[in-house]
Amino acid sequence: MHIPLAQPYIGEQETKEIARVISSKRLAIGDTVKEFERALAEKFQRKYCVAVSSGTAALYLALKTLGIRHVIIPVLTCQAVLRAALNAGASVIFADVVPETHNLDLSSLSDKQLSEAEAIVVTQTYGHAADMDKLDHYLKKYNLALVEDFAQATGGYFKDRILGSFGRVSITSFYATKNMTTGHGGALLMDDEELYLKCQYGSRYQASNYYQDLVPMNFMMTDIQAAIGLVQLSKLDTMVEMRRNLASIYNQELEAYQVGFIHEEPWTKHAYFKYAAILPSNVQKQAFIQRMGESGIEAGKLYDPPLHKTRLGIDFVGDKAKLPNAERLAGRTVSLPMFPGLSGDDVKKVCEAIKSAVNSGGDK
Ligand SMILES: Cc1ncc(COP(=O)(O)O)c(C=O)c1O
Repeated sequence: MHIPLAQPYIGEQETKEIARVISSKRLAIGDTVKEFERALAEKFQRKYCVAVSSGTAALYLALKTLGIRHVIIPVLTCQAVLRAALNAGASVIFADVVPETHNLDLSSLSDKQLSEAEAIVVTQTYGHAADMDKLDHYLKKYNLALVEDFAQATGGYFKDRILGSFGRVSITSFYATKNMTTGHGGALLMDDEELYLKCQYGSRYQASNYYQDLVPMNFMMTDIQAAIGLVQLSKLDTMVEMRRNLASIYNQELEAYQVGFIHEEPWTKHAYFKYAAILPSNVQKQAFIQRMGESGIEAGKLYDPPLHKTRLGIDFVGDKAKLPNAERLAGRTVSLPMFPGLSGDDVKKVCEAIKSAVNSGGDK
């Protein structure tokens, strides 16, 4: 038995669309990227979209075009967030997370830190939205720009608003295992025309405007990627529902083994990019992952260490931050197999393996 952590839900329709682009001989700067951008803007209720080559590129470009010099980022997230911020030339302020959803907790920061910052990057962690109402209070009080990184939450909602519709700039990733994929890829979404033109200019060769304060890069998406993306976008809601059905099986099973998980708050629709489980304190995480591996099941160590304890974080930001929630949760949180092609029976097999790994304390 082998149950992977993640797998794209991709097949004949995508193959057909790839073949169509190949026979058109228009692999780049063709109409398919434009069509994909239009479709993304419509889906995420934004005026403009710029498709790019990765989520990291999208986040870098968002911070760069906004001219952000000091940015707050949560530490229980992908290294890409830190990489993008540092490459954009911003100084980083690390923030702790709320234990319920592992999302950014601005109350962990001092008035001085909040006053110094110009923007926050909110990552909708694992697919569960941050409490956007609570964040709004800080955005207004400290005049912070909201950069919404919904790379993990494509297809999720906060109240009745789709994620991706909140940021001054919102960005996502279409990496192979994400809720929708183009292999590699990403997008920026915004309503401000000037910002849109600037992001276009910053990411490709064919932009019409010139901006003195920005040195452009080549972050272009190909038409082959966009063709895959259009099919994936049309399946996004179905794929998220498939993830949600699997999550409800996990929730039921795990309750019995004293394994914690992220409970879906009533104000969100969790998109379950990752199914995060929180191990009991007597279970040793590394040994647990190893035991699961011996049963043929991949479990992920997630964001351990958290960003402020990584080499990059220490070397480029410093090791002063004390963020107790993230530090405690990083040592206990694992991700379990989650992807639309997983069956309910597979989830039950995973849960059986969890039961025996937890009963033995994760020890060997
Ligand atoms: C929250 C978050 N932001 C940004 C990225 C970067 O996306 P990409 O891998 O497409 O560069 C990722 C992950 O892959 C992510 O999880």
